[in-house]
Amino acid sequence: MIVEPRIKGFICTTAHPDGCRENVIRQIEFVKKNGIINGPKKVLIIGASTGYGLASRITAAFGCQADTIGIMYEREASGKRTASPGWYNTKAFEEEARKAGLYAYSINKDAFLRQTKEEAMDVIEKNLGKIDMIIYSLAAPRRTTEDGQVYESVLKPIGEKFSEKSWNLTTNVISEATIEPATQEEVDQTVKVMGGEDWQDWIRMLAERNLLSNGAVTIAYSYIGPELTYPVYYNGTIGMAKKHLQKTAQDLTTEFTSIGMKAYISVNKALVTQASSAIPIVPLYFALLYQVMKEKGIHEGCIEQTDRMFREKLFSGRVITDDENRIRLDDLEMRKDVQEETMRRWKMIHCNNLSELADLKGYWDDFYHMFGFGFSNVDYTKEVEI
Ligand code: NAI
Repeated sequence: MIVEPRIKGFICTTAHPDGCRENVIRQIEFVKKNGIINGPKKVLIIGASTGYGLASRITAAFGCQADTIGIMYEREASGKRTASPGWYNTKAFEEEARKAGLYAYSINKDAFLRQTKEEAMDVIEKNLGKIDMIIYSLAAPRRTTEDGQVYESVLKPIGEKFSEKSWNLTTNVISEATIEPATQEEVDQTVKVMGGEDWQDWIRMLAERNLLSNGAVTIAYSYIGPELTYPVYYNGTIGMAKKHLQKTAQDLTTEFTSIGMKAYISVNKALVTQASSAIPIVPLYFALLYQVMKEKGIHEGCIEQTDRMFREKLFSGRVITDDENRIRLDDLEMRKDVQEETMRRWKMIHCNNLSELADLKGYWDDFYHMFGFGFSNVDYTKEVEI
């Protein structure tokens, strides 16, 4: 059938198989062009089908020549409904990896469940032996625990409501948006979903089954951002979950000193992904930041970020962290000149100068690309098998 984008709010309900393949191939080409990385050879990626997790998987495979196991939770096509982009991305990734002689196995199941973990460990035991790197890149709206209890993650401030400028993606109107504060119950549930508990469960289960190599490394992704977004991010519900994630990194490193495993948080750059476009107020900051970083020639996407993480921060001889033991891939985003210019624009932005000060095109290009649309070399008038 002919697949067209169908946008509802901050999400596109269709995905284009050929476009998703193009998105994967471009990322593979980027990493290959940069050459081989002396990195891990057996890598498990949890949340491997889109955004930072997909880019990490591509970097591990095509930079380090690693065998990879990816976990994701994606929708298959049914009837006239396309699959989700992560489903097509994963198919394309697996095909490209196999063509390159690399082992690639994917499990499309709920990563929070014990059964999924056991399945992954059976595959590791049988086909890989031990794992040298685990990347935890889940962004999930909810988590169901073994007892059937469902926890929801919310993006809200804590203590008091937060009002700021917001960009309506449909009408291009800038108006003030207000987000009501979270209840304590909502804070706790968000930590349960997006905090470090499940990451710790994965690592402990791998260790129990003796599937971690000596000196293995594990990374989970976090975000800090500017003070402007602190109420809705860093000091909000998601920020609490990220602080828990950071504490988990310290705990994991301590717990597994006997095998020399190190756990890190990598603080990444703000980028348009399915998870981040759902955060209120933040898209306007993204569009301003994109413009400023592009003008300065330092803009990066997910693949540039993960490639740099592997090449420069993790596997260049020594791990480069800040004084809180965090890897900082947000170094360019948080550079003083970048932040000053972004904030200057933030103060003066309104409907009439929006397209001049903010990179609306860049935002939308990234958004469409995520769903496999907007690539000039893909023929969207052609019938495709979904
Ligand atoms: P994304 O939405 O592109 O990717 C989420 C991944 O998690 C997908 O592979 C999805 O299939 C998988 N997933 C979701 N629920 C699952 C479940 N129950 N079981 C198995 N897989 C599941 O998100 P993005 O933005 O790449 O986020 C990944 C991590 O990076 C998150 O921790 C996020 O907070 C962090 N991060 C994101 C930034 C951004 O601006 N996008 C900035 C800094 C950190």
